Formats: sequence, C-alpha cells, structure tokens
Amino acid sequence: MNIITLTADGSNTLYNETIGEHYHSKHGALQESKHVFIEAGLKFASAGKNEISVLEVGFGTGLNFILSLEYCISNNIKLNYTSIEAYPLTLDVINQTGYSEYVSEQTWATFIANYEDALKDEQTLLPFCNLEIPYKTLADFDIDKLFDVIYYDAFSVQHQPEMWSDEIIAHACSFLKPGGTFVTYAITGKLKRAVKANGFNIEKLPGALGKREMLRAMKV
Ligand SMILES: C[S@@+](CC[C@H](N)C(=O)[O-])C[C@H]1O[C@@H](n2cnc3c(N)ncnc32)[C@H](O)[C@@H]1O
Repeated sequence: MNIITLTADGSNTLYNETIGEHYHSKHGALQESKHVFIEAGLKFASAGKNEISVLEVGFGTGLNFILSLEYCISNNIKLNYTSIEAYPLTLDVINQTGYSEYVSEQTWATFIANYEDALKDEQTLLPFCNLEIPYKTLADFDIDKLFDVIYYDAFSVQHQPEMWSDEIIAHACSFLKPGGTFVTYAITGKLKRAVKANGFNIEKLPGALGKREMLRAMKV
C-alpha cells in the first residue's frame, strides 16, 4: 500500500508501507529529483548533444521522467527513456501525486496517455520522445543497447540492500556507454568501490536537501 505524503518543499511523495520507505526524500521530492537527476545527471550528460538515452532504475511515479521530458523539450533534445520498474504504480495513484503542477499540460497529458502502454512496449510520445518501462526487476533486465546516462533511483540500502550489491551495481553499469554518466542520490564507501571496480571515475557532489553528498560517476 502506498500513501501520499507531503515533503518539505511542498511536493508530494509516496510512502511504501511494505518496504517502509518513501519514494523520494522527505526533505523535498521535487528538489531531490531536480538536483540529482536533472541537474547532476541529464544536464551534465546531454551538454552539447541533440539526443540522449536515459536508463532509470525505478520508474515509480514518473517524476524523474516528466522533469527530463520538460528539460529536453526546452533544450531541443530528443529523449529516449527506458525505466525499469518491478512494481508499477496504477495510473490512479500517479494521477494523485499532484506532479501535473510541475510540467506543461502537454507533457503531463502525453505521459498519462502512454504510461500503461509503455509498461508493455516502447511508445512514442510527441515526435521527439520514446518511453519504455520494462516491467521487471533490474536483475532480470537485459537489452542490446547502451545508454548515455543511468539514473539509479532504487530504494535505499537500508530498505533494499539487494539493489546495492556489487553484482547488481555491475549489472546496471554494464548498460552504460563509455563516457556515460551514472548518478544516484546516495554515496557510501561500498558504492564508490563497486562503481570504481567497473571502470568509472567518481565525483562527490553536494547532495540534495538533507544529504551532504551524492555520487556521479563517468565510465572511462
Ligand atoms: C525510490 S523509488 C523510485 C522513485 C521514482 N524514480 C520516482 O520518480 O517516483 C524505487 C523504485 O524502484 C522500484 N523497484 C523496487 N525493486 C525493484 C527491482 N528489483 N527492480 C526494479 N525496480 C524496483 C520500486 O517499485 C520503486 O518504484
């Protein structure tokens, strides 16, 4: 059961009772998504490009997706977005997040119209965005293409340690192009070692509200 909860920046998140965790930072869902995934991830990885491929781990409410689409529309970048989700939310729950406030009517409408089909197959949203949400676990995910950027947005290591094992991090990293960018809201010694072991240079960046640091890593 997921319960809509207000975070400190006035945006909502969901509290997942089974896992015992929120989908976003309680210090600000919108702030976290913009800071970690859009500013440190997408903006950095798409600089100078007119097309970008994103692999997200954990589609959840779609907040990272809609903010990415808005960014790409504003910057004339074609967006190819693949987001793995093992436990998709219903359209009803997504409609209750209030996230329509943060994007244009067009972005919200195209997202809502295509969400359920994107769980089955790749969908074209507007002429310059493709969205697919493979309905499976990260461990079961495989694809024969490589991505420019990975948004690693799993539940925390305290609540879902299997999503932060060396093996699963290596599996996720294997889908990134050389020169590609891996970003996540978290940073631990173990995570840094796991990412480095896969041939990445790591950077510690200031974290989203409530977190001192976050990780960005570039594949050599
Ligand atoms: C922190 S939330 C992601 C928040 C999301 N990016 C958003 O903007 O709403 C973690 C997500 O990972 C999903 N998840 C949990 N276990 C998973 C697994 N083994 N493989 C893929 N996704 C998983 C959860 O269902 C949840 O949607």
